[in-house]
Amino acid sequence: MNFEYTEEQMMIRQAARDYANRELIQDVIERDEKAIYPERHIHNLAELGFMGMMVDPKYDGGGMDNVSYVLAMEEICKVDASVGVIVSVNNSLVCWGLEEYGTEEQKEKYLKPLARGDITGAFLLSEPEAGSDATMQRTKAELKGDHYLVNGTKNWITNGGTASVYLVMAQSDPEKKHRGINTLIIERDKPGVSVGQHENKMGMRSSDTHSVMFTDVKVPVENRIGEDGFGFRFAMETLDGGRLGIAAQALGLASGAYELSLKYAKVRKAFGTEIANHQAIGFKLADMATKIEVTRNLCLKTAWLRDQGKPSSTESAMAKVFASETAMWVTTEAVQIHGGYGYVKEYHVERMMRDAKLTEIYEGTSEIQRIVISRSLIRD
Ligand code: CAA
Repeated sequence: MNFEYTEEQMMIRQAARDYANRELIQDVIERDEKAIYPERHIHNLAELGFMGMMVDPKYDGGGMDNVSYVLAMEEICKVDASVGVIVSVNNSLVCWGLEEYGTEEQKEKYLKPLARGDITGAFLLSEPEAGSDATMQRTKAELKGDHYLVNGTKNWITNGGTASVYLVMAQSDPEKKHRGINTLIIERDKPGVSVGQHENKMGMRSSDTHSVMFTDVKVPVENRIGEDGFGFRFAMETLDGGRLGIAAQALGLASGAYELSLKYAKVRKAFGTEIANHQAIGFKLADMATKIEVTRNLCLKTAWLRDQGKPSSTESAMAKVFASETAMWVTTEAVQIHGGYGYVKEYHVERMMRDAKLTEIYEGTSEIQRIVISRSLIRD
């Protein structure tokens, strides 16, 4: 067993850390307050190779491993988790599936620009009445000769208003239940696609979340990913990687809030000494650091499993549930340590607390992760 990072992994982590501390920090409060999409940062992160990190260089990706992805996500999300989710969706939910299951034509046309970060993508599974119960897709993709006719509505779509390429799950044969679902690549500018109102969220406010409506959208059969009926399995496999991305995002939120708390506790004085010297605070810091260390190890082990091509569905769910609940707990304690300062925007931790809540909800709630984990325990 080797817990050392490679030179390359450390360089990637440093590049992400430098960008976050030099650039993301500058306008993070304003972007959160005004819900401004971080276009300039996504462009810059694409230049650094962070939008298609794990894609093979032959498809214009960075050729990096999952461990590097976790390290980079942690550093980005320490400073701005909204930027992190845009990066994560593009890498894990869009590029990964296209590279793994796309045809050469699909890779040429869609994966390459996505991996370069020239454009971004989105993953359209959730619906008004199919969030956790994802098999109940109401969006229809009816086969009409050489094309599908797509009708329906998708909800809570990260990158919904900014992505150029959507991966859309839709039901083609309701009798077959989840085995009738297909995943189709649909361009946002196709006739019949319309983007709903921007969601005014509690946290992750500068990420872009929308509903997307499809009305008689004609999609060529060659835009289907995999065989007929493969769409639900595709979604589930893709989410295994997506959940690792969100776990790493939650890890970043927790470690960012912890670092701010430690710094604050070492300078803020009360009752004649720095508050870090009071056990009430010292013990909180100890618990924060311990939970973060466990979270990081769980994320890295899951990343390592993926790098080895080993199954990681259960570990991804474990990493996601543990990391998101750690992030929620750590960020709440961070606000408490900061006292009144923690409740105002300038000190960052209140934003992190709001952001952390979403990590317990999207890409499968904590309850969904527990379903995945408990089923695997019972099955094995
Ligand atoms: N890999 C491959 N196949 C899988 C799989 C996996 N990890 N998990 C399930 N499957 C397959 C099963 O083998 C089964 O296949 P067959 O019946 O053909 O053999 C099929 O999928 C159905 O599985 P289940 O019987 O377990 O289905 P279920 O309905 O009981 O439960 C669930 C599945 C785990 C609860 C699933 O519905 C789920 O994950 N729900 C949550 C959905 C979710 O995470 N949504 C997030 C939206 S994406 C998002 O948030 C993106 C964003 O913008 C940030």
